[in-house]
Amino acid sequence: MRLLGISGSLRNGSYNTRLLELCRDRVPAGSDFTIYHGGALPFYDQDLDKDEKPAAVVELLDLVRKTDALLFATPEYNYSVPATLKNTIDWASRPAFNSVLKGRPAAIISASMSAFGGLRAQMHLKQILGATLTPVYPAPEFLLPQAHEVLSADGGVRDAGLEKRLREFLLGFVAWADKQPAGA
Ligand code: FNR
Repeated sequence: MRLLGISGSLRNGSYNTRLLELCRDRVPAGSDFTIYHGGALPFYDQDLDKDEKPAAVVELLDLVRKTDALLFATPEYNYSVPATLKNTIDWASRPAFNSVLKGRPAAIISASMSAFGGLRAQMHLKQILGATLTPVYPAPEFLLPQAHEVLSADGGVRDAGLEKRLREFLLGFVAWADKQPAGA
């Protein structure tokens, strides 16, 4: 299975991008995992969204098209998703209801320094992906609260429970994504 991990953070040392790296290193054998963030995209502008699109947009659309399943890792900014992630989705969402996101199975994970683990951002992201007809892995949800205490600066994981949770989440998500009808 080809997976595309989309990080909602542009930050060096991002906990959410780190989560995607941990996923990349733990996906079932035979899977291919690419990590992406929308830092090179311009702000969405319908005047730019013509037949000939900006190079960064073409790259994003190609990446999504070549992917069997999407894994969004979102920080929570002011109780919602960061603008860069919304912008990435807006670019990928056209034409409406018939875009590269339509029917492409997805899951959402989040890491936050707070006790809530990005819950509110996840809820907003589920709503946004409803607009793009992107089916979202329903359960179990994966949230990482107090990420700064669990993920160490050297890239290590300080919590054995996280290791188990992450592996179970990935196995469940990949099995679910595999069963989704193409273009549903
Ligand atoms: C935050 N942060 C934050 N955390 C949270 O749990 N709820 C929130 O509403 C917010 N709001 C917020 C707004 C802005 C503008 C920033 C910069 C940060 C903290 C945020 O979760 C924390 O910085 C994470 O480490 C960001 O994710 P990455 O970059 O580590 O992946």
